[in-house]
Amino acid sequence: MTHTSFEDPSVRRSIALFRAFRHERTDPEQCYSLLARDAADQVERYTPLIGRVVVDVGGGSGHFTEEFRRRGALGLLCEPDHRELCARGTPTPGAVVADGYLLPLADGVADVCFASNVLEHVSDPHTFLSEMVRVTRPGGLLYVSFTNWLSPWGGHETAPWHYLGARRARERYRRRTGYGAKHTLGENLFPIHIGPTLRHVRGRTDLTVVAARSRYWPFLASAVTRIPGLREIATWNLLLVLRRCS
Ligand SMILES: C[S@@+](CC[C@H](N)C(=O)[O-])C[C@H]1O[C@@H](n2cnc3c(N)ncnc32)[C@H](O)[C@@H]1O
Repeated sequence: MTHTSFEDPSVRRSIALFRAFRHERTDPEQCYSLLARDAADQVERYTPLIGRVVVDVGGGSGHFTEEFRRRGALGLLCEPDHRELCARGTPTPGAVVADGYLLPLADGVADVCFASNVLEHVSDPHTFLSEMVRVTRPGGLLYVSFTNWLSPWGGHETAPWHYLGARRARERYRRRTGYGAKHTLGENLFPIHIGPTLRHVRGRTDLTVVAARSRYWPFLASAVTRIPGLREIATWNLLLVLRRCS
């Protein structure tokens, strides 16, 4: 199937993504298919996908893995949560129930190691990153994006009320919807920040930072990540493109 690629960053692309997000609950298929195509376009800006091994860590129900496969990659989905894996019914063929902290893969097997919106869901992002580095071949690429805690979307379904505190935001969510929020701070959502994460990846000797930018912003996508303080609110979602050192 062919599709139109959006210029990135561009207003058209951001509007299309925003519209898709608004219908995430009612039309997850359309939302995640678009997001997967968009992320695969981003990866292809740095490396061809045909014939490459792409490991999708925390890949949920497999939209991204399937898009990588459509583009000729050998996509391997590792997802620890069986319910996420089966959210669309039958799991993606070849998917593995596996934790990102301990991937059942040999050192250096991946040309690309990919984790979209997973880092904010792990309590120890540095160890998680190290495991991604381990399975990536020297010279291979890592694609890591996450929503930071102070992003307007940091509280996920309870946003933007997380700015008033996680507990208050959860209580409000329950009052309004009648059921509990999917995410609980400290259990399956963790307060990750942009400044410390950038300092961490820049300080690592096994990685070089190829790009650090807002994943969804239509303009100033890289510039916004350079302004301490402001970046914690204005970036929304940080995309890191990293290369494993040879
Ligand atoms: C918000 S979803 C993102 C799914 C998909 N990558 C996407 O971008 O739509 C977060 C995913 O991270 C997964 N996850 C949480 N802890 C993980 C871990 N320790 N290792 C790998 N994946 C994990 C969850 O099961 C969930 O599928």
